[in-house]
This record gives sequence, structure tokens and C-alpha cells, in this order.
Amino acid sequence: MVKDADTRKLERLRAQLPAVTATGYFNAGTNGPIARVVHDAIVRKAEQELNEGRIVPGVYQDHAVQADKVRALLARLLGGNSEEYALTQSTNDGLNIALNGLDWSSGDEVITTSLEHPCLYMPLALLSHRYGIRIRIAEIGDGAGDIAGVISRLISPNTRVIALSHVLWSSGVVVDLPAISALARENDLLLVVDGAQSVGQVAVDIPATGADAYTISGQKWLGGPEGTGAVFIRRDRFVDFAPSSVRYGQYDPTGFFLPAPGARRYEMGECNPAAVEGLKAAITFLLEDVGADWAFARSGQLGARLLKRLSGMDGVTVHSPKGRIGGLVCFNIPDLDPAAVADKLYDKGFTIRYVAAPPGPAVARASVGWWNTEEEVDTLASAISNLATAIHSDATRNGHQKETLPSANARKKSRKLPTKA
Ligand SMILES: Cc1ncc(COP(=O)(O)O)c(C=O)c1O
Repeated sequence: MVKDADTRKLERLRAQLPAVTATGYFNAGTNGPIARVVHDAIVRKAEQELNEGRIVPGVYQDHAVQADKVRALLARLLGGNSEEYALTQSTNDGLNIALNGLDWSSGDEVITTSLEHPCLYMPLALLSHRYGIRIRIAEIGDGAGDIAGVISRLISPNTRVIALSHVLWSSGVVVDLPAISALARENDLLLVVDGAQSVGQVAVDIPATGADAYTISGQKWLGGPEGTGAVFIRRDRFVDFAPSSVRYGQYDPTGFFLPAPGARRYEMGECNPAAVEGLKAAITFLLEDVGADWAFARSGQLGARLLKRLSGMDGVTVHSPKGRIGGLVCFNIPDLDPAAVADKLYDKGFTIRYVAAPPGPAVARASVGWWNTEEEVDTLASAISNLATAIHSDATRNGHQKETLPSANARKKSRKLPTKA
């Protein structure tokens, strides 16, 4: 059989990601698969440091050049100017940088939603303890409705910031940010966006979203190393977001604070050079080998395919509304804890994840990426169906007692090597 160009391309690319053939890899929402070029770039840098020493003439200049290259790649992928990107350790880091940089007063209000990750709730909780700010939660259900409308009803004269995700981690909805940023502009509010689940999964043009601050994880859909990320701060908002940490090189001999040019003022110290090389390789791989538009279209199509298979499936409830775009598909098997769903599917050869953060729901989540095949999506759907049928008949026999996850030790003992379903 003659293979079409897309199939050949997918085979060639999958060969670059060994983890996606070791297991059905559906977990970029936590950590994406690493490409060989990313691994090689990390190892090359580590070996150079091992063999040549870490402090050789010109090393700091080179670190600065490589970090600039990463900022330029981020601007190429996500829009804006490279000067508007600061390198961070994570999305959580970026959210702390943005939110702690504002000049808060007791009684100020922030509006967020009921479907956020703790990485957003926790910095807000800290601000509430420290400054007495008030957090108002927009109840948005699964996120399919008019989020801007719900938020608009919570705006008061004390509101300063709207803070929410671009892609909701426990339903997969891509939020209509332009509608929310229009609301922010009309009411003179700042918009802070958690981009952990959007960047690398769906097409993102940060300036077009209207975000004032937008955070990025390197290790998720971008397939970069752990401990990498970035935060975009709009150039004309540098005055609103003050750097809340200071490092050497940013003050003169009298102790007078001299912020670094551009968003580099928000960076705390040197990044791990091997991690910078890895992130650079990951974004280059996405842009030049995979093709960002091809990747986003493909994970959206495959996500829709899985959603269609699960919708109406006996014994499965779906938490991702139809019409959402992207690759995050959230579901539950009633009578089975979502953590146990993930565990049992792992034993069948699929890596997925469960997520739980009150006030949002606890769900099992498949992150469908461009690297998945149509067949893998279909076999994952069959494995979920088989699991739901088995659990349902057990539950009927045992009078509907929810099965929860066994202890970590028991799990370790019973863990078999993943096999293909
Ligand atoms: C919406 C959202 N925000 C933040 C995070 C945390 O990202 P990081 O580990 O890069 O801080 C996650 C990760 O699960 C997430 O889904």
C-alpha cells in the first residue's frame, strides 16, 4: 500500500519521539514527549560543561546569546517582540512574577474562574493573606458558555485584574480571550493568562489575545525540559508589573535599582544552560520539523475523534463540551476514581492523567497530541469502554461502591510493564 505524505511524515516524526512508541502517549497536559533533538541538545551542553568546564572565557556572553535565541523563537511562535519574554522555570513561576508585581491594596478584587489550576489559585491566595485582596470566582461550569458574560457580572469598582487560563485544564475548552480582554480594557483592568495548556497545543497569538501577562510552560505541549517556561509581559505594561525580585547586575554600587532592558527585568538569575538548549531545540523542532499549524490542526482533529468516540459511550461521562478545539479530552467512569482510571489505563499501555482541583471537578484526562495515530485514539477509546463495562458489572455486583486507587505501594507491586491494548 502506498502511504500518503502525511502518514510518512508522521512515521518520520514519531521515530524522533521514542516515548510515544513505548506507550500510547496521551499526557502532554502534564509533560510532553521529548524529541531526540531535545535530548541531544541537553546532553551536548552537559558534556561540554563536563569536558571543557563551566566557566570558560565568553561563557556568560554565550548564555545570554542562547537565551536571546529562545526569546526570539517564542516571539516567532507566539507573536509579540522577543523583548517582551522573560525566561522562567514554569507557568507557576510566571504567574507569581506577574501577580506579585502589582501594587495591591486591601480590598482590591481579582476575578478568576471555577476551573483554574492551583498554580493560579495559590498565588492569589497568598495575595489575599498578605494584602487582603478579595478573590471572586466566576462559576463557569465546563467552560462552554459565555465566560465573558459571567465575569462581567462580577466586576465592581474594586476589581483590578482578571486572571484565568487560555485552555481550561479540566475540560479542554479554549477560552475566548479577545472577548475577555475587551471587557478588561473597557473596565481598565489587567488580564493575566495561564497559558500552560495552550502553548504548543493550539495556535496562540499572544498580542491578539489582548493579555497583559501570559505564562508558558516549556515541559508540556512544547516538549521541552522540566524547569523551563516563560512569561510574556506587554511592553507598555512593564510599569504596571514591577519586578518583585532583584538580582545582581540590576543595581548600581549605591544600591539603586536598575532594571534590565525588556522583560529580562523579571528573570531571577541564570537559567540552567542545558535546559535553555533543550527548550531551544524543542521550539525549533515544532516550528521547523513538525510545522506548528500542522501540529495544532492534527491534535484538534484527533481530540475531536476521541471526544466523538466517548460521547454517548455506556458507562462514561464526558466533561469536554462539543465544539471545543484542541486535544484535551476529559471524562469519568462513574464508580471509579479518576486516579484509578489513569492507573488502569496505564496497565493497558496508555499514559493519561487525572486532574482534581476544587472547586473544579475531578476527571480523567487524555491529552491527544499530533504524535498520536488515529489507531491509538481508537484503541484508547476501546480500552476506556472495556474498563467502563468491567467496572459497571463489578459495581452492579457489589452494590455501587466507588473503587478507589490502591496505595502507592500496592500499585508499585502490581505494576506490570505497559503493554499495547
Ligand atoms: C492550567 C495549568 N496551569 C499551570 C500548570 C502548572 O504548570 P507548571 O508546572 O509549568 O507550573 C498546569 C499543569 O498541570 C496547568 O494545567
